[in-house]
Amino acid sequence: MREGLAGYLRKKNVSYYPGAGELTGLRAPAGVAARARSILADHGQRVRSFLENAMPDFTRGWQPGTSSFRPVEEEGRGLSAHASNELVHIDAGAYGATHGDRILRFFVNLNPSRSRVWISKGSFEELWRKHAAEAGMPSGSLTPALPERAFSALVRAAGKVAPLSRVIDSSPYDRRMRRFHNWMKDTPSFQEPPHQRFEFGPLSAWMVLSDGVSHACIRGQHALVDTFLVPLRNCKLPAPYHFLSGAAA
Ligand SMILES: [Fe+2]
Repeated sequence: MREGLAGYLRKKNVSYYPGAGELTGLRAPAGVAARARSILADHGQRVRSFLENAMPDFTRGWQPGTSSFRPVEEEGRGLSAHASNELVHIDAGAYGATHGDRILRFFVNLNPSRSRVWISKGSFEELWRKHAAEAGMPSGSLTPALPERAFSALVRAAGKVAPLSRVIDSSPYDRRMRRFHNWMKDTPSFQEPPHQRFEFGPLSAWMVLSDGVSHACIRGQHALVDTFLVPLRNCKLPAPYHFLSGAAA
């Protein structure tokens, strides 16, 4: 998989959507696509079972998202600022609306000889305290107005049939998170050192609530990434939702 897919990529990631059974990012002969699909589906199922067994309370009622393979070298990819993985950010908006639910990502560095290198500027809480005012972040009620609530309910209902429709949904929470995310990527002084640096060695695995810890991947090639949406109610510690709504100070 590591070398074999390179010629068939259409996007920066090859992603498998378990609900829809759909594979995106690849234009390849049927045999290659079927093999990629079964590798990602099997891996995603293994990760899901592992985490559900290890953390039954935390994963209760969660929604498995994509299983993705990231085949491209992260260093110097030259993507646009808002898409760039090399700029420090918190995850927001990549999956449409979460309404405050948490984004859990489970990574495996498939590279047999090179580390995957991350940098961070700290937790959401630290960044909120330090930069919310400078970023012009509003705080206070995140309750959507009635028309938006009705729209979100419709999208959720549709999502049971076509999981990707969730992407068109939005909410005050998701818009504020996206705004903070964009401010981070658009503010050169914020991107300056000092950074904490994390090296994930060949064939190691790690997981992160990626809406709650700032991160950028500055080096590495060939990783598997599984994404899950964890219900906010399962979180015992203050979450971004609580800071944005003013409930946690
Ligand atoms: Fe990210």
